[in-house]
This record gives sequence, structure tokens and C-alpha cells, in this order.
Amino acid sequence: MEKEKKMFLGVTGGIAAYKMPDFVRLLTKEGVDVHVVMTKNAEQFVTPAVLRTVSGNRVLTADWSHQDDPFDHLNISKEMDAALIAPATANFIAKMAHGIADDLLSTAVLALACPLYVAPAMNPRMLQNPAVMENLRILESRGIRIIPPESGAMACGEEGEGRLPALEQLRDILLATRARKQDFIGKRVIVTAGPTEEPIDPVRCLTNRSSGKMGTAIARAAATRGAQVTLIHGPVAIPLPAGMETVAVRTAREMLDALESRFEACDMLVMAAAVSDYRVASPIAKKMKKTDAPPTLALVQNPDLLEMFGKKKGRRVLVGFAAETEDMAHNAREKMRRKNLDLICANDVSRSDIGFGGAYNELVIIPRGQEPLHTGRLTKEALADIVLDEALKAGAAAFAASGGMK
Ligand code: PMT
Repeated sequence: MEKEKKMFLGVTGGIAAYKMPDFVRLLTKEGVDVHVVMTKNAEQFVTPAVLRTVSGNRVLTADWSHQDDPFDHLNISKEMDAALIAPATANFIAKMAHGIADDLLSTAVLALACPLYVAPAMNPRMLQNPAVMENLRILESRGIRIIPPESGAMACGEEGEGRLPALEQLRDILLATRARKQDFIGKRVIVTAGPTEEPIDPVRCLTNRSSGKMGTAIARAAATRGAQVTLIHGPVAIPLPAGMETVAVRTAREMLDALESRFEACDMLVMAAAVSDYRVASPIAKKMKKTDAPPTLALVQNPDLLEMFGKKKGRRVLVGFAAETEDMAHNAREKMRRKNLDLICANDVSRSDIGFGGAYNELVIIPRGQEPLHTGRLTKEALADIVLDEALKAGAAAFAASGGMK
């Protein structure tokens, strides 16, 4: 967010509301002009007077009788550069999902026309409730960006996912989004994410621990930078980004079909999916019984999708990942050569603090014919932008030669 930008901060009635004065101070230090609206319940945790003092602006509350102007809820939602609801309670999330406007904040939110972020914070069991999960999915499907809560010790004494992320992290998400370049406008990008599943019988499968977070972060970053994105994903349990085509597949061969019909028209393919190298030669039609003799599974090789598309690459930019446990750079270079890639991103999947599943990763990014870039351990969101920067650079020669990336 550039300096002097205006931000709308909606505060609802969760314990984390007491952190909002510090958050407002962090933003104002960056030159952001923060306008706060709070619910009646939020006043149980933080006073309007404190928020007014730190923001330097009038704070709107649920008490309409104190408002100077009957159109306050409309005026405050105009000309904002970004809006954040933090902490967002289960109740407020439900109201947003269903368009309920029964106080000043919920009414103002309906009239916002800027990018809107929601930072849920609540007890882990409440967060996991299917109603809350469904409401978050509804918001995300409308382009509202959900900032996932963190795991840890909760104010209620329980442990789990539901804490408001660190205030510096919230600030960085807001600042980074506005500062994003629009250098993918006009480009069609396909990203694959998550595992594939190869059936053994109707209930069992061969798969791996990929969560889809790395690929999804890249898809989201490319869309934010202006690309027209297709995200082809295996079975994942994370929320999928809005504002792009998403294609759910199960097996490697289904991923191949989804890619085949789209590859021709794309400018860039990023294969972050952990595609199964093997499948069961003859999956069994009925569930195997424990009483049966232990089976021997005959496996056959799956097609190597990246290698196949490498053969008809043209001027498209091809980015691969390399999941390695040893000799990372050497093995990654060999994969880059064999699959005819412009860029390969190697990660050490033997480490538990990066790679599969978590929020962080660490990449060795190798552009064809050049020295590797060691990123250090970063969030998958931060890495997504670095991968895209490097992919653009790696494809620049072909881009310049053709006036387009294809
Ligand atoms: O999903 P997360 O939990 O966030 O974890 C991220 C990740 C660890 C899965 C990701 O960073 C990653 O490393 N993805 C690639 C995993 C993989 O399959 O690596 P590989 O070295 O086996 O394959 C090399 C490349 O060929 C990959 O781009 C892969 O997508 C592709 N491939 C592999 C096999 C196959 N049959 N077809 C392919 O196209």
C-alpha cells in the first residue's frame, strides 16, 4: 500500500480486538490513513476512544445515535484502498456470507468497493465447525481474501488453529497486495498443485503428503499480478483461490487430460503438483478384505507430464519443481535438462520445517544455464512471487524474440 492510502478496519467482538490499537499504530507508521468501524461487542474488548486516538480519525460504532450523519455507513465505505475485518468472529463471518446488514459495520461492509480481507480469530473448535468453514468458503468464492489464522495457545486455554496472525504479518499482507506489480497482464498461466491419488481399490490409494499450498500460492500470486490463471489441483483440503479457473483432478492421467486441453493456449506452465510416478496396474473393483491373503501390488509407470509438455514447449515458459532428499542442485539440473525446462525450483522434502504441508518452504531456484538462487526459508506466499519473478526473467529471451511468450 503506498503512503497516504486509506484503509477501512472493521473490528468485531473477539478477544484479539484488544490488539487493534497496536495494529493501527503499525499501519499509521507506514503512512496509512486508517478508518475504524467497530461492532457493539468489539467495545467489550477495546474502546472507541483508544482507536480514535491512535488512528487520528473518528471511530464509527454500532450506536447510530452518536453518528453525525445518517449516511456515515456509506461515506466511510467510499474511496478506500483496502479493507480488513480483524478479528472476524464466527457471527460476523456468517453475516457477511449471507448479506445480513443489521448494524453499522455489516451495512458499511456491503457498500465497500475495494479489496477486502477477513482475518478470522476464534476458538479452534468453533473455527472447524462446518458452518463456519462453509461461510469462509462462500466469502472466498466471492473474491474476499481470507487470512488464515495461526495455530498455538488460545486465550481460552485450548491449543489449535484460530489465533489472529502476528500484527506485522497482517500489515505485510496488506502492504504487499497494494504494492504488487501488474507484470502478468495478458498472460495465461497454468499452475498445478497438490498430490495425485492412484486407486488401489475403491477405498485405498497411492498418494503423497502434498497439501497444495505451494502451487495455490503461485496461482494466487500470478492472478494478483494480472495473469489469467488456471489452477489444476489434486485432492486438497485447503480453500481454493477465487478469481481463476480451478480444475479438480484425482489421478496423474486425469491431470494430463486437464493439461492437454489447455496447454496450447497457455504462456506459462508451473508444475508444483506432486504427481505420482506410479499407479497400480490393475486397481481392484471391490474393497480388498483383511482376511484375504496380503496382496502384491503390481505398479506401472505414470506418464511424466512435464517431460511430455517439455517436448512441445515452443516459446512457453516451463517451470518445474524438484522434490529432493539429497544432492538437490545436481538432481534438479538433471530434471531440468530431461524435461526441457526454463526454470526448476528444488526443495528438500526430507526436512520437516519446509516442503510438504506447512506454510514455509526454502527453494534453490535454477534458471537454465545460470547460477542458482538460494531463497532461504520463507512463507510459500513470499516464495510464489520470487518464483514468478524468476520465471519471467527465464522466459524473457523467448518473450523478446516473439513479442509474446508463446
Ligand atoms: O503442496 P505442498 O504441501 O505445499 O508442498 C509443496 C511441494 C513439496 C509438493 C512442492 O514444492 C514440490 O516440490 N512439488 C513437486 C513434487 C514432485 O513431484 O517432484 P518430482 O521431483 O518428483 O518431479 C519433478 C517435476 O516433474 C515436478 O514439477 C512434477 O510436478 C513433475 N512431474 C513428476 C512426475 C510425473 N509423473 N509428472 C510430472 O510432471
